[in-house]
Amino acid sequence: MTNKKNILQDSHGRDHTYLRISLVERCNLRCFYCMPAEGVQLTPKSHIMTYEEIYEIAKTFVNNGVTKIRLTGGEPLIRKDIPFILEKLASLPVELSITTNAVIIHKFIDTLKLYGVNNINVSLDSLVKEKFNKITLRDHFDIVYSNILLLVNEGFNVKINAVLMKGVNDDEIIDFIKLTKDLPVCIRFIEFMPFDGNKWDLSKMVSYKEVMTYVNRSFAETDIERLQDAPNDTSKNYRIKNYKGSFAIISSVTNPFCDSCNRLRLTANGQLKNCLFSSTESDLLTTLREGKSIEPIIQKAVQSKLKIRGGMDTLEKLQEPKLHTQNRSMITIGG
Ligand code: 5AD
Ligand code: SF4
Repeated sequence: MTNKKNILQDSHGRDHTYLRISLVERCNLRCFYCMPAEGVQLTPKSHIMTYEEIYEIAKTFVNNGVTKIRLTGGEPLIRKDIPFILEKLASLPVELSITTNAVIIHKFIDTLKLYGVNNINVSLDSLVKEKFNKITLRDHFDIVYSNILLLVNEGFNVKINAVLMKGVNDDEIIDFIKLTKDLPVCIRFIEFMPFDGNKWDLSKMVSYKEVMTYVNRSFAETDIERLQDAPNDTSKNYRIKNYKGSFAIISSVTNPFCDSCNRLRLTANGQLKNCLFSSTESDLLTTLREGKSIEPIIQKAVQSKLKIRGGMDTLEKLQEPKLHTQNRSMITIGG
């Protein structure tokens, strides 16, 4: 009893109340910064969690204090059994949310409403059709954009994730912000992060500071409002005066928010990652399939969580390519 209560607290005193579950390693887009050009070695289907297994593992986390679950991918909505997964997870006392590229989300409006999935994060890196299609290597800009409007009209709480890259979309920062004049969404600018196979280097990243330089150049100081960030928020939130929406910056590279980290990640093949940047994983699925308790493994994984960015605690270490290949590609982590 005494021990059980705290298995989600790590050695730095952080309580983990938020679980991100990647449902699938595949995606219907091919964003170059996420999916390596040579593709990824897909886990055989028999090693991917079934919806019953997802439920069992999620239940264990919820019993131990998780209050929030976000479904990611790849693209989570391409899983055929997504309605079953949502139905099962919605029966747990937990806030359910999803991160999606929105390519097929129009088919799931009723399902999402039925299971109380109100918070939807959509990845959109450009407002220019040709550029979006170049980044994603697919021709889906129009449907993604109209689906974002659809989600807003249907009353969902929508955040848009844009990974900023120099010479790619840094010229669109202000256009993105202007979108929030009439559209009640939050645009979140994400500093480009290094993962296996994504050809990252620091010079391609657009920093929090640089974003704010653009913002300060385009708007009057008195019109830029700093908003209160939610507890454990990874982003710094702002609003332009009288705009319906807001914008935010996620500065994982220049200003990591590891001190208040409450996140754990479960990969589609049932491996627990204690950090987005961790090089080690803990196999929950095999143990579950052996009919044994996964709690001791969860506890050990949480205990061994490093203080900052999976050990890449300096910008120098973050620039060490060797350290990126010890981690997965983003497509198989799910953000
Ligand atoms: N750096 C920053 N964010 C990334 N994402 C994917 N790859 C990267 C990267 N290299 C983001 C996507 C998506 C979320 C799940 O993760 O934009 O919105
Ligand atoms: Fe949490 Fe790791 Fe992200 Fe830091 S880098 S906020 S520890 S997941």
